[in-house]
Amino acid sequence: MERMAIHKALGETSAGELICLKGWVRTLRTGKDVAFFALNDGSCFASLQVVVTPQLPNYVELVKIGTGACLSVQGVLVESPAAGQRWEVQAQKVEVLGDADSDYPLQKKRHSLEFLRSIAHLRPRSNTFGAVFRLRSALSFAIHRFFHERGFLYVHTPIITANDCEGAGEMFRVTTLDSENPPRNSGYIDWSQDFFGERTGLTVSGQLQGELFATAFSDIYTFGPTFRAENSNTSRHAAEFWMIEPEMAFADLEDDCRLAEDFLRYLVTYTLQHCGEDLAFFNERVEKGLLDKLQALAKARFETMTYSEAVSRLQASGESFQFPVAWGRDLQSEHERYLTEKVVGGPVFVTDYPVGIKAFYMRLNNDERTVAAMDLLVPRVGEIIGGSQREERLPVLQRRMEESGIAPESLWWYLDTRRWGSCPHAGFGLGFERLLMYLTGMENIRDVIPFPRTPGNARF
Ligand code: 4AD
Ligand code: MG
Repeated sequence: MERMAIHKALGETSAGELICLKGWVRTLRTGKDVAFFALNDGSCFASLQVVVTPQLPNYVELVKIGTGACLSVQGVLVESPAAGQRWEVQAQKVEVLGDADSDYPLQKKRHSLEFLRSIAHLRPRSNTFGAVFRLRSALSFAIHRFFHERGFLYVHTPIITANDCEGAGEMFRVTTLDSENPPRNSGYIDWSQDFFGERTGLTVSGQLQGELFATAFSDIYTFGPTFRAENSNTSRHAAEFWMIEPEMAFADLEDDCRLAEDFLRYLVTYTLQHCGEDLAFFNERVEKGLLDKLQALAKARFETMTYSEAVSRLQASGESFQFPVAWGRDLQSEHERYLTEKVVGGPVFVTDYPVGIKAFYMRLNNDERTVAAMDLLVPRVGEIIGGSQREERLPVLQRRMEESGIAPESLWWYLDTRRWGSCPHAGFGLGFERLLMYLTGMENIRDVIPFPRTPGNARF
């Protein structure tokens, strides 16, 4: 008999129907001449109760199985007399596909997120991580759907690259040179003898290649893994994370903010419409008020303030921050959270940052002190999006590269787009895990990535 997903069994079948389910036992309970197994197959949050009686030939074996065992069940769906569930399955045939010993770590009790992180190979079978990873999958689809509906081209930018887009020196090296004895030239490692004939690393952003495609296809986006060797052990930074980077030709900073706003609202609405059961769990157990927050967000118009205004507001706040606030210094996450949580009480775009703290590719404003950049800040998470209008004027771009210590020759191909058919364009990067933290209320980035990579941790 063909397997039916529990999600489907709970939604589309009717009483009396004979069905086949396969899944893992979340909890088990035995009574006099009866046993109850809560079976879960990950297709939805809910488990389905399977009722087993001594009529089954292997009943004696079945009452001895452990939590976590994998079963194949044939039975009839009936209305459940028990509170809190509509259906249960009267088993007619149960096969043990894989029993589980009593040392299975996910016994029925509350486990800390820290403990679950230490068993990342098993945590997808828990309620919390089931909900997180179903949401992650649903959101990935929604992201593609949003851009597809708007006619954006999906482009795969390279993972191995020879340029550090953000210029922050946070690249992981990719090399096949012998680390014990690399070839040298006047004392320095001779990268020309490396696999690619030059120094390469894992990409920190697909933006520069994305811009090349935007000057051919007008509207494009990337969605893929990015890597940063920042040694910051925070709850919001991962060494490997996923980023969505749209790039629009013929667009300015205002267009960029509107796209970001529409995008976020679309994803929130999608989540509310398609992930109700999992969201209800997050609302109940992870962040009280999450649903109200998301419903408000789906309708909200985001506020905007310039960096200079943000600095004035922070200075006037009377708050004592750990890091000083001064025009020209980067905003720290405590400042970002104060702005979005206390000053605005919702998402806010901060725009027009000082030229000295932003990447070389951002468009210089007429004041020559600021660039046409934007960060979107949201409560609890802080920066979720970073973007800008790009510098499309060749001489200005060349000057900015030199000021930032980047040799223009090293990015000759990037500069070529400004030489032939240059156009105003803009884009942004949304950190996928930061988005998930915002939508689920989970407070640590390690808990929204299947197998997180952070300083000191690449197990599993
Ligand atoms: O602000 P960032 O560095 O911007 C860029 O990479 C641009 N090239 C994007 C563009 O304009 N196309 O990074 C964008 C977003 C951040 O706002 C944040 O959400 C996320 O990526 N992010 C990280 N997420 C997890 N761990 C890290 N270490 C992250 N660094 C950035
Ligand atoms: Mg940023």
